[in-house]
Amino acid sequence: MPAPKPNWFAIASVAYTVQPVSTIPMTWKSWLVVMVSDPYNLGQSGSRMPNMQFPNLDPIPIPAPIWLMKVLSLLTLTLHFFAVQILIGSLVAVIYFSLKSKGQGASANQVAALAVARRLPIVMTFVINLGVPPLLFAQVLYGRALYTSSVLIACQWIAVVFLLMGCYWLLYRIADRTGLGKPSHWHALGALGLAAIVGHIYATNMTLMLRPEVWQAMYAKTATGFQMPPNDPTSEARVTFILVGGLLVGGFWLTLHSRLKTISDEAASVLRSTGSVFAVIGAIAELGVGYWAYSVQPSAVTDGLHSTFYQVSIGIWAIGYVLALLVAGLQVLKKATTALLSTIGGLGAFLGIAGAVIVRDGIRDATLKLKGWDIWLRIENSNWFVILLFVILFVAGLVAIGWLLSVMKAAKPITEKVNS
Ligand code: HEM
Repeated sequence: MPAPKPNWFAIASVAYTVQPVSTIPMTWKSWLVVMVSDPYNLGQSGSRMPNMQFPNLDPIPIPAPIWLMKVLSLLTLTLHFFAVQILIGSLVAVIYFSLKSKGQGASANQVAALAVARRLPIVMTFVINLGVPPLLFAQVLYGRALYTSSVLIACQWIAVVFLLMGCYWLLYRIADRTGLGKPSHWHALGALGLAAIVGHIYATNMTLMLRPEVWQAMYAKTATGFQMPPNDPTSEARVTFILVGGLLVGGFWLTLHSRLKTISDEAASVLRSTGSVFAVIGAIAELGVGYWAYSVQPSAVTDGLHSTFYQVSIGIWAIGYVLALLVAGLQVLKKATTALLSTIGGLGAFLGIAGAVIVRDGIRDATLKLKGWDIWLRIENSNWFVILLFVILFVAGLVAIGWLLSVMKAAKPITEKVNS
C-alpha cells in the first residue's frame, strides 16, 4: 500500500505547538531534515507497517540516544517504586500501631506510629518527584501510545492530581494527630485508599497504552474521557506487585527507624519486630505476585523476553527478593537488627525492584512490537549540549542532596515525643 501523502500544514502546526513547550533541544534545521526524510517518524526502517494502529505523526524525534533515555527512565522508575513502597508500608504500619495503641496515650505503639508518621509528608515528596522523570521519559519515548491512552481515560488521569492532594493532606493530618496522641487509623486508611486508587489509575493507563486494538471502540463509545478500558488480565497483577511490595520495603524502613536514638527502647522494639514480620510477608508475597504478573502475559510477549539480558534481569529480581527475605527472616529469628542489616535488606529489595522494572520495560517493548511499533527504530536526533547540561545539573542535584543529608546528620535530633 503506498504511503499517504503527508499533510504538511498539520505537521507544521503541531510541530510548531509542541516545539517550544518541549524541553527538546533540536535546531529548526535538524527538525526540517527529519521532517523531510521521515515525516511520520517511523524510524530508520522507513517502511510503513501494515497494521500500524498508532497515530502516525510524532513531531518530536528523540532528543537523546534511546539507550540513554531508557537507562534514566528505568533508574528513576526504580527509585519511584521504592518511594511508593515506603509510603504504602508506612501507612499500613500507622494503621496497625494506631489500632494497637488506641486510648493508651503516649504508649510504645503511639511513639512508633509517630516515628513513621512524622516522615510521611517527606516520603510523599520523593514519591512525586521521583515519578515525574520517568513520566517525562515515557512521554518522549512512547508519546504516540501514552498520549492516546491518557486522552481516552482523561478524567481519571487528571483526577490523579486531586487524589494526590487529598492523600497529601491526610498525611499531614496523620502526623499532627499522632503527635497529639490521637488515633489516626481512619486517616491512614483513607490515605492508603487514595494512594491505591492513584496506583490503579497508573496501571490502567500503562496497560491501555499497550492496547491500540481497543482505542477506536473506546473513543466511539464516548469522547468524554470518562470511561474505564475493557478488562485487561495483566493490569491487576501489575498494580498488586507494586502495592504488596510496600510490606517489604516499608518493613525495612521500620526496622531502620528502630535504630533511632530519639525513641524509647519499647518503641524501638515494636518498630523492629513489626518491620521484620512485614518484610518477611512482603518478600514472600513479592516472589509470588511477581511470578503471577509475569505468567499472565501472553506467551507471544514472554517469547520476546527469551534473551540473556532479560533472563539476567529475572535472575536479579529473584536474587534481590531472596536476599531481602533472608535478612528479614534473620531479623525475626534473632529478634534484633543493625543499621547494616536493614540497609542490606533494603538493597536486596531495591535490586528486586530494579530487575522487575527492566522486565516490565521488556514486556512493554515486546507487546508494542507485536502490535507493529518497534521503539528501537525511532529516529534519534541527539543534542549533546543539552544532554551535557542535563548531566551536570543531575550531578549538581545529587551533590546538593548529599550536602543536605550531611547537614541533617549534624543537626540536633528532635525527640519523637507524643504530646498527649
Ligand atoms: C500515591 C502516589 C502514587 C502511587 C501509589 C503510584 C503507583 C504506581 C504504580 C502502581 C505504578 C505501576 C503501574 C504499572 O506497572 O502498570 C506506577 C507507575 C508509574 N508512576 Fe506512579 N504512583 C504514584 C504517584 C505518581 C506520581 C505523582 C507520578 C508522576 C508525577 C508517577 C509516575 C509514574 C510513572 C511515570 C509510572 C510508569 C512509568 C513507565 O511505565 O515508564 N506516579 N505508579
